Amino acid sequence: MTVTNLSNLRPATPEAIAEAAGVIRSGGLVAFPTETVYGLGANACDDHAVASIFAAKGRPRFNPLIVHVRDREAAEEYVAFSMIARKLAEAYWPGGLTLVLPRLADAPLSLLVSAGLDTVAVRVPASPVAQQLLAASGLPIAAPSANASGSISATTAQHVRESLGERVDIILDGGPTPVGIESTIVGFEDNLPVLLRSGAISRERIEPIAGTLAYSTRDGVSAPGQLESHYAPNARLRLNASAVSSNEALLAFGPDVLPGARHTLNLSPVADLTEAAANLFAMLRALDTKADEIAVMPIPNIGLGEAINDRLHRAAAPRGSA
Ligand code: TXA
Ligand code: MG
Repeated sequence: MTVTNLSNLRPATPEAIAEAAGVIRSGGLVAFPTETVYGLGANACDDHAVASIFAAKGRPRFNPLIVHVRDREAAEEYVAFSMIARKLAEAYWPGGLTLVLPRLADAPLSLLVSAGLDTVAVRVPASPVAQQLLAASGLPIAAPSANASGSISATTAQHVRESLGERVDIILDGGPTPVGIESTIVGFEDNLPVLLRSGAISRERIEPIAGTLAYSTRDGVSAPGQLESHYAPNARLRLNASAVSSNEALLAFGPDVLPGARHTLNLSPVADLTEAAANLFAMLRALDTKADEIAVMPIPNIGLGEAINDRLHRAAAPRGSA
């Protein structure tokens, strides 16, 4: 183990949040908790600051970012809401829903946040620390998940620290993120709502408001974060396992845990998908250090299970496909 300098890791006290807001205003980088995962934030109006997010993550330039704002009124300064989009915002903001909407011509946002698209992804986070940071900075904050490109999203400040180290000016530690899986992304193609990424708010909660969600027909261009092996641990993943061998680690789900694994962690002993989502990334990280192969028990594909299975399929995808 290397001894690391933890000087940029700070408990999210009012003083630290005020200092972090100053960092955002002066063009620096702040990692902060949202209710979904930690974000790596910068002033969304400052091209140089936004560019430094890409540099810190080692993320391909074409990948657009989510702009975090305090409330829907703030979002209306940057994007055009359709009626369905407004209803979704009323139902699920603040919370784990991101809306991809047409960018207003006079929006003062950096063009880099849209990465060349004529849309912007906007979200109002529910986490009090995120809300206080937005209020104190008085700025929209562009923030991808706070992990190096191609690795698992960070659900604790320690994970941010391990992934990004000194490339962030301040990491606000607000404890583990309660939801643990990224926001659901809904966009519109030909005025019809499309599911660009399954996530924290399940399809079943969105469709009563938006109508049936189509999957995007555009191959990875509109949500390039969908690159196949995006959420990649080092270990190989074997999904829907019905038996385990002694050289494998096991990511279990439910009360009937498969016997014989070298090391087991259970996403939810009571088979609760919300609990499983909250544990997913931290348990993948932990098992990654225990074995070269991780067997994963089947997860029902309903509710948050859709997002969990999506992340697991990406993590299991052959390397080099991204
Ligand atoms: O929960 C979350 O969404 C977290 C927290 C920090 O808010 N953020 C997050 O950001 O997961 P990121 O950058 O890791 O994933 C954002 C996804 C990417 O797949 C990106 O391609 C897509 O959003 N995206 C952003 N802007 C877009 C746009 N204008 N059109 C289509 N997709 C967009
Ligand atoms: Mg990400």
